[in-house]
Amino acid sequence: MFVKSLKLLGFRNYIEAAIEFNQPKTIIIGKNAQGKTNLLEVIQILSHVKSRRASRDSDLVHFDLGEAIIHATAERNQEELEIALLIRRSGKRTLKINEISHKPNELLHHIFSVSFMVDDIEIINGSPSRRRDWLDSVIAQLDFGYKDKLTKFEKILAQRNSFFKELVEAGSYYYRDLNTSQQDQLMVWDELYIAAANDVTGLRANFIMELEPIAARYYSEISGSDTVLALDYMGMQIDQEALEEVRARDFARGYSNVGPHRDELKFLLNGSLASSFASQGERRSITLAIKLAELELHKTKHGEYPILLLDDVLAELDEDRQDYLLESVNPQTQVIITTTHIGKHLEKWSENAQIMEIEAGRVMGTSSEATLCYDIA
Ligand SMILES: Nc1ncnc2c1ncn2[C@@H]1O[C@H](COP(=O)(O)OP(=O)(O)OP(=O)(O)O)[C@@H](O)[C@H]1O
Ligand SMILES: [Mg+2]
Repeated sequence: MFVKSLKLLGFRNYIEAAIEFNQPKTIIIGKNAQGKTNLLEVIQILSHVKSRRASRDSDLVHFDLGEAIIHATAERNQEELEIALLIRRSGKRTLKINEISHKPNELLHHIFSVSFMVDDIEIINGSPSRRRDWLDSVIAQLDFGYKDKLTKFEKILAQRNSFFKELVEAGSYYYRDLNTSQQDQLMVWDELYIAAANDVTGLRANFIMELEPIAARYYSEISGSDTVLALDYMGMQIDQEALEEVRARDFARGYSNVGPHRDELKFLLNGSLASSFASQGERRSITLAIKLAELELHKTKHGEYPILLLDDVLAELDEDRQDYLLESVNPQTQVIITTTHIGKHLEKWSENAQIMEIEAGRVMGTSSEATLCYDIA
């Protein structure tokens, strides 16, 4: 998987920019707030549809402009790909892949990337919903049916919750208050809910099962110890009995209390919960191990390594871990690293890397006229 070029128009602080990638290794260098992360965000959007930093599409559009265009060329399994994405402030997107229109979610299936950002340590330290977001975004790239299953579950969850709220508003606080028709309706919602929830939970459980041994192997290599990293996924398959157990709470809160939206995932080192006991360095090592494991799963599923995006993370790792990360990545993998300066660790790695300097939303050494005139609307 290789992104060959990017053209940006009105994306974040890039008014107009054209970038050609000509080496597997790229170092994007620039002072703070120049547009380094924005550039990686482009590739994240091309592969994951959404960016974790932007809550709305209007955030992605340059402050002074009405819309943003991303135009990318890439090569995947020896096939050429051309992607054009128009992002409007309204949130309506237009996507063309090889000049054919597609739904925006189709982006999930073409360009694959794994990113490692400074705040990824929140996968360990943050809330359960942060871990679920991570699971969802990774699995959506590995299993093409996952996104639809997740969306279906979320829809049914919202409808089932509204059904509970309506019952409570109509004065039915307990199951025994329901008339026969309401009981039948609840049964239908339960059946739909169980099937949709178990689809999501099953795929998450499979993913963890596949990821865990690879991440554990990486962890022991990174730490140079016998410490065992384990991932304990607390999502369970549900059935009618499970729903009945929480029925009183569902009525009381007008909310479905069991299901994948409440799942938790725990990271354990030798059986102890990492978020309570692990040092900062150990947490970073866990994050590094799971990211390297993600790369391997991509290779297994798609026959190629995805693009690896490293956003200023080297500074967070000690020298051994920096070396481990840079040396353990397969040389054919396209790696794009952002940094404010090329330190000792990057010097060696930068020997045959393309170095790109970014200043105030401009890629130095390129002409802004080299850019776009792409008809996508
Ligand atoms: N929609 C937008 N329109 C114009 N500028 C924006 C928009 N969104 C973000 N910016 C600006 O883009 C600039 C660069 O952001 P970016 O996160 O890419 O910086 P960076 O080079 O990664 O810096 P750092 O080294 O601090 O991480 C910021 O100053 C930010 O205010
Ligand atoms: Mg940044």
